[in-house]
Amino acid sequence: MSEKFAAVEIISAKRDKHELSNEQIDWTIDAYTRGVIADEQMSALLMAILLNGMNNREISKWTEAMIASGEKMNWSMLDRPTVDKHSTGGVGDKITLPLAPLVAACGAAVPQLSGRGLGHTGGTLDKLESIKGWKANLSNAEMLKVIQECGAVICAAGAGLAPADKKLYALRDVTGTVQAIPLIASSIMSKKIAEGTSALVLDVKTGSGAFMSDPKDAALLARTMVDLGKNAGVKTRALVTAMDVPLGLTAGNALEIRETLEVLAGGGPSDVIELTLLLANEMLDAVGIKPKVSPEEALKNGMAMDVWRKMITAQGGDNDAPLPVAKEKMEIKATASGKLLNLDAMKVGVAAWRLGAGRQKQGEVLQLGSGIEIHAKPGDLVTKDQAILTLHTDEVARFERAIDALVGGFSIGGKDDEVKRLPLVVERIEG
Ligand code: URA
Repeated sequence: MSEKFAAVEIISAKRDKHELSNEQIDWTIDAYTRGVIADEQMSALLMAILLNGMNNREISKWTEAMIASGEKMNWSMLDRPTVDKHSTGGVGDKITLPLAPLVAACGAAVPQLSGRGLGHTGGTLDKLESIKGWKANLSNAEMLKVIQECGAVICAAGAGLAPADKKLYALRDVTGTVQAIPLIASSIMSKKIAEGTSALVLDVKTGSGAFMSDPKDAALLARTMVDLGKNAGVKTRALVTAMDVPLGLTAGNALEIRETLEVLAGGGPSDVIELTLLLANEMLDAVGIKPKVSPEEALKNGMAMDVWRKMITAQGGDNDAPLPVAKEKMEIKATASGKLLNLDAMKVGVAAWRLGAGRQKQGEVLQLGSGIEIHAKPGDLVTKDQAILTLHTDEVARFERAIDALVGGFSIGGKDDEVKRLPLVVERIEG
């Protein structure tokens, strides 16, 4: 078949800071999905986009073309409105786990397509796979059945959804081109728009443990995604939230499921509860639901836990099976008494990754019990020799590299020293 354009023309245009036309963008995504544009050519184009950017029209067209590369899901047969949440990823960010059943318990339908861990950040599907028998891959018919029975489903995106993004994402991961706002925004939003949700709340992380460490970049990413959602008819809003310190008191798959169960049982760490409730209220508001039972109450009275247990069972999971526990533990202790001034999310994330909670290469089997328990958060008073962290792994040999990652990861000052950290919600952006 004769092609409309040549890849090298498109690469040169972006290299020379020209705008790509709608036709050029449509062809590029289609030709790459068909294998006509080679990976080395797409790598060059991605780098040119990272360096020279794209305007709003180009980002919007790039996103539309990625959506058009696959199927679009439809939930119009459900008797309640659909709403989803997406986090750009962080350390200890287990919020989706209590949030999806909670919002379902309050009356919305939550079709939550989630991902696996990426670099130092954890993935919702990996965490759920700590539960014996739980299945991430569902057909569209199975997904519909779970959402009809339980009100919420958390699963992997099927192969038919935005296949262009799957290819592009794998290439970006190995070509140093993940961190470009047009590419992140179009990657996330193409999947969310193709998923067919009627409303979307984005949790855009900022701080050391986030992909966008600078709050200004995070706000620009949030604004770009909110505009893409709005233009596609999805009611979209975003919170830019703190990821300078890990969320909650655990980072690692089974450890985070344990913490999720505490939250669903009405307990758990205050920052996890606060962010879960904030996002639940945003999600319900976005679809105009005024729940009879408030999200706060639904966490305390067991309604959210009931939906969770049903949802886990519907996806083959055994709610009563013990969670995996790592074979080895090591405590990291305070070297002085005083106030904990910081706890660096990136360093904790990298250490958890090195302990076996994340993958070093694609497809690697995780140590589901590995990770880090956090015993003190910035602002807490600690005493000399008190454990600040407990490291968990199946292999003693992993402790050394995890400890290396934690060098400078926390500091202890005088009890009157100021703790500098981001507020939990840095900015709210609505369409
Ligand atoms: N998550 C995605 O799905 N895509 C990105 O580019 C970054 C995070």
